[in-house]
Amino acid sequence: MSNDPLLQPYKLKHLTLRNRIIVTSHEPAYPEDGMPKQRYLAYTVERARGGVAMTMTAGSAAVSKDSPPVFNNLLAYKDEIVPWIRQMTDAVHEEGAAIMIQLTHLGRRTRWDKGDWLPVVAPSHHREASHRAFPKKIEDWDIERIIKDFADAAERMKAGGMDGVELEAYGHLLEQFTSPLTNELDGPYGGSLDNRMRFCMDVLKAIRSRVGEDFILGVRYTADECLPGGTGKSEGLEISRRLKESGLVDYLNVIRGHIDTDAGLTDVIPIQGMANAPHLDFAGEIRAATNFPTFHAAKIPDVATARHAIASGKVDMIGMTRAHMTDPHIVRKIIEKREDEIRPCVGANYCLDRIYQGGAAYCIHNAATGRELTMPHVVAKAETRKKIVVVGAGPAGLEAARVAGERGHEVVVFEAASGPGGQIRLTAQSPRRKEMMSIIDWRMAQCEKYGVAIRFNTWAEAETIEAENPDVVIIATGGVAHTDVLSKGNEFVVSSWDIISGDVKPGTNVLIFDDAGDHAALQAAEFLAGAGAKVEIMTPDRSFSPEVMAMNLVPYMRSLQKLDVTFTVTYRLESVERNGNQLVAHVGSDYGGVSKQRVVDQVVVNHGTIPLDDIYFELKPKSTNHGEVSHDELIAGQAQSVMRNPQGQFQLFRIGDSVSARNTHAAIYDALRLAKDI
Ligand SMILES: Cc1cc2nc3c(=O)[nH]c(=O)nc-3n(C[C@H](O)[C@H](O)[C@H](O)COP(=O)(O)O)c2cc1C
Ligand code: SF4
Repeated sequence: MSNDPLLQPYKLKHLTLRNRIIVTSHEPAYPEDGMPKQRYLAYTVERARGGVAMTMTAGSAAVSKDSPPVFNNLLAYKDEIVPWIRQMTDAVHEEGAAIMIQLTHLGRRTRWDKGDWLPVVAPSHHREASHRAFPKKIEDWDIERIIKDFADAAERMKAGGMDGVELEAYGHLLEQFTSPLTNELDGPYGGSLDNRMRFCMDVLKAIRSRVGEDFILGVRYTADECLPGGTGKSEGLEISRRLKESGLVDYLNVIRGHIDTDAGLTDVIPIQGMANAPHLDFAGEIRAATNFPTFHAAKIPDVATARHAIASGKVDMIGMTRAHMTDPHIVRKIIEKREDEIRPCVGANYCLDRIYQGGAAYCIHNAATGRELTMPHVVAKAETRKKIVVVGAGPAGLEAARVAGERGHEVVVFEAASGPGGQIRLTAQSPRRKEMMSIIDWRMAQCEKYGVAIRFNTWAEAETIEAENPDVVIIATGGVAHTDVLSKGNEFVVSSWDIISGDVKPGTNVLIFDDAGDHAALQAAEFLAGAGAKVEIMTPDRSFSPEVMAMNLVPYMRSLQKLDVTFTVTYRLESVERNGNQLVAHVGSDYGGVSKQRVVDQVVVNHGTIPLDDIYFELKPKSTNHGEVSHDELIAGQAQSVMRNPQGQFQLFRIGDSVSARNTHAAIYDALRLAKDI
């Protein structure tokens, strides 16, 4: 038996958890018609198979119709969910893991224009900044109805074979009652702490009386809202004690902070560049004060930190939730002493931002997550060993090389630069985003494991590639900054990459024209303003930085708002001309009828990249498929069989930004999807 603290079993009431690592509840937005169907099942089971002690599925499954599924939540208020839950719990139990589900009423943290278009309810009319709905002030009959809904939903979950349910209190209806900031009720549910906690206690009592004692019941709640006038630490401690003393719950799942704004949510679920384990000591204080089973998760991205959390006795079970989205097999790798092979979570929060903006959570650098039905986490060996040449050692090229290597092929990568990384190397220039380099470092280590040969400082010409006598050539050369977008004066502008890389000296009065809306413009602004420049970011879009998304925007705003940076939306830079040592920027608008000028000393254009594809077009006539990809075969997960030129010497493919400017996830998905069937 291992003496690793993380691998020790834990007895939670009647339940024996096989180790100390859990996946805390999170809604990846995979439900179909509000039900956990095959995709959800495959995602959940993969983590159970990977060895986690307990998977707490379904963030915020809705107990009532007036808690509409704002991020495609499960609909726990429907009876038809029971067989879907049963299918999932059976499969997870078969893998030796426990499974719980999180139930909630979102209260004001949703929108009325989702689901059945019912008015949202809360204990005051105060709107939540993030979701924007002005709530109806909850009435007595709403309260009675929702308490019953919670009990009904818990009963459904028990019937579906769940080991327990967790109530999502923080930021949701339960805590909208508890927090003095959001509860303006008179009478039994408003005023004193007793009254503000009454709703939560009533819900717990109703559930407990319905599900009995042999069913785990927990609460995930904030023990310090970190907001003036909100639940502070001393009241949070008191709430913790009362929850324990109620005898109704079996564990506490501690959160610190508030989630009503993007910034608040980002402090609760920290993004890259923010400290690891920021609330672990706080959770430890709650455990010490209550001496009660305590769970916690918040940026515990690596095994060493998780081990410390358990070994130091700060918590009983440690959540590694995003870490499991990146690598579902963490526990197995710990057991097999392959910790160094764990694919690291880089804290990009692409997963979280996507549940709102893209409709489903994807991990920035594990394209198999959420696609378990079609994409493998462990790639199968190929039947025939082939020679594969990859051109480019950015995220796309290295993913292709890693996957091809894992399949047992002989792989050579050519890279013109002296090191790997492509655009990620530039991204990681920003100290806050340097964790992104782990995307590259992990792939380099995997490539080494599979014997992939990487030749840096090698500009691959057609002859260099042909000399390898390859069966397959994969072009992953990425793109170069595309600034040629003005009607006049393109020669006077520089790119955001020029600024980030340090190739161009920052100006003092700078206009950034951003119609890509991605990270690069904000990163460039940060470099420029940090060097003392006055910066205006101008976009023709309705809002700025639409591709950066909510939580990713938070650290930028925290930095840029302290610097001399302003944003101008709905204006388009049309042309630039030189006037002495100044530049005159001519600005119009897609809405028409305006013409303005800006006089600056530097104009930066952020318009994405344009493919670096010369080598692809040079090789195309020499290939068997002329570069053609069968989309049907690609999507169906079959090997590519296009034959356009029987005299050709190799199959030729192009992936990532060398096809068109997209993002890191798209580049990695391109590579995995293609290479897993070569
Ligand atoms: C895509 C996604 C959805 C989430 N949804 C919920 C949710 O519905 N309820 C909840 O309590 N936490 C939710 N979380 C937060 C996680 O449970 C966890 O607290 C958070 O990711 C921090 O832990 P980590 O750093 O180990 O990932 C979500 C997280 C992610 C990544
Ligand atoms: S997208 Fe980023 S934060 Fe989310 S799981 Fe992947 S690496 Fe972690």
